[in-house]
Amino acid sequence: KKISVVIVAAGSGSRFGDPLPKQYHHIGDKTLLRHCVEAFMQLCPPNHIQIVHNPAHQHHLDLAIEDLVDSGMLRPTVPGGATRQQSVLNGLRALQDASPDYVLIHDAARPGIDHDVIFRVLGALDKYKGAIPGIAVHDTIKQCDDDKAILRTIARDTLMRAQTPQGFDFKTILRAHTKFEGQEMTDDASLLEQMGIAVKCVAGSERNDKITRRDDLARLGEHFSDQQT
Ligand code: C5P
Repeated sequence: KKISVVIVAAGSGSRFGDPLPKQYHHIGDKTLLRHCVEAFMQLCPPNHIQIVHNPAHQHHLDLAIEDLVDSGMLRPTVPGGATRQQSVLNGLRALQDASPDYVLIHDAARPGIDHDVIFRVLGALDKYKGAIPGIAVHDTIKQCDDDKAILRTIARDTLMRAQTPQGFDFKTILRAHTKFEGQEMTDDASLLEQMGIAVKCVAGSERNDKITRRDDLARLGEHFSDQQT
C-alpha cells in the first residue's frame, strides 16, 4: 500500500507563550518538526511527506528542513489555514495527485512519535478505514458547568486520550474533510465518527504526548535523553 504523510505545522501556538512557534523549538539539536519528519522518512515512498506550514514562519521552516529538500522525500510545502482542520484539508488536497492508499496525519507538536506507534496505526488499517493512537485515562474525569460546579463523573475506563498520527484510507478522509470543511473539530477521527464510520484506537505512547506549554518541552525532553537528539 502506498502511504503518504501530512504533518500539520501551521499553528501559531498561542498557549505556548513564545514568539517562536513551538514546532520550531528544539529538543536536543533538532526542531520538533524535524523530529517528526525523520520519524516518517523511512516509512513512505519518495515525495510523499506533505508539510503544511504558516508562510509567516517560512524562515524557521527553511532552517528546520532545508538540508532535507535534496532527499526527495518532501513535497513542496503548502500553507495552512485558520484552523487545524483547514490546514489538514489543504495538505490532503495537495496530496491528491500522489494518489496514496493510506494517509497518516500528524501534529508537528508531537516529536516523540516512534515507529512502533506508527506500525500499530497502519496495522489497524487492514480492517478499518481509520485508526488512531490513544492512551488510557488514569485520572477521574469530571464534567462541569460554567461555574465549575460538577455535573457528573464520566466512567474513565471507557476513555482514551487521542494522539496522532491518525491513519486513514485516503479517499475516505478526503471525502470527510471536504464534507465538514469550515466546521471545527480538534482531530480527524471525529469526522469519520460523525459519518458513522468505525475508527480503531490502538496503543499510543506517553512519549508521543503533544507539546502545548513551555514546560511540556522540558518534560518530554527527558524521554529523549537516551536518544540521538
Ligand atoms: O493547537 P494544537 O496544539 O491543537 O495544534 C495541533 C497541531 O496542528 C500543531 O502541530 C499545529 O501546528 C497544527 N495546526 C495547524 N494549523 C492551525 C492550527 C494548528 O497546522 N491553524
